[in-house]
Amino acid sequence: MLIAQITDLHITAPGGRACGGIDTAEPVAAVIAQLNALEPRPDLVLVTGDLVDAGRMEEYEVVAELLDRIEMPVRILPGNHDNRDNLRAAFAPRGWVPADGGPFIQQVVEDLPLRIIMLDSVIPGHTDGELDDARLEWLRRRLAEAPDHPTMVAMHHPPFVSGMPGLDRYRCANGDRLAAIIEAYPNVLALVCGHLHRPVSIRWAGTLAFVAPSAARQIALRMGTDMPFAWTAEPPALALHLYRGAEGLVSLTRGVGEEFAPATARNS
Ligand SMILES: [Fe+2]
Repeated sequence: MLIAQITDLHITAPGGRACGGIDTAEPVAAVIAQLNALEPRPDLVLVTGDLVDAGRMEEYEVVAELLDRIEMPVRILPGNHDNRDNLRAAFAPRGWVPADGGPFIQQVVEDLPLRIIMLDSVIPGHTDGELDDARLEWLRRRLAEAPDHPTMVAMHHPPFVSGMPGLDRYRCANGDRLAAIIEAYPNVLALVCGHLHRPVSIRWAGTLAFVAPSAARQIALRMGTDMPFAWTAEPPALALHLYRGAEGLVSLTRGVGEEFAPATARNS
């Protein structure tokens, strides 16, 4: 089975600009067109937060129109730029987030060979994230329900240090407590995140932790402590998680761009 992941769309109201001054709807539309053209076809599309830039309802109306183009089932979790009430109002009627999840927007996708637990790491008004007692306990219970079922955990904020100091200060707090929970479940094949606007992978808590690149715009790779934050022209992208049972889970990324055969093949 194949799971697609798109993240950090940062959609604005019509005419708005985000991610350093671009019309984010343009790259996101291109990523979605690419998603629909994928072969094989994903079974599910996970959207891992920051769907819009300022949490406003008019932005959710724009992103809903874009996400409605996706030809596969969609599930959503929130990021730091999202507003839970507006996100729920836009997407609960589509069944993409639970209509009544209590204070957090969390859900479990149960009907696939890979079980997917989607966590809410948002602290309203903050760029960084956290998993507090209630959310960690919710995860513990969900994992205990199916300890032998291959599982993927998804959340917006990475809980680990990426090596990019300018971004690491905005990671998810209580990463050590999350790691202790996940370490007890070897059936967790991967933890997938967004937030960093570039691909990152790390062996963490006995599993593979992975950050998908942004569907709108990437952040420059800057590993020095005093380097100011910058955007980069690396292409908008999606991630794919291919689960092949005993052969395991492989995670790939795909930037937006045309495919063309090498000249030698074209000329032969
Ligand atoms: Fe974010």
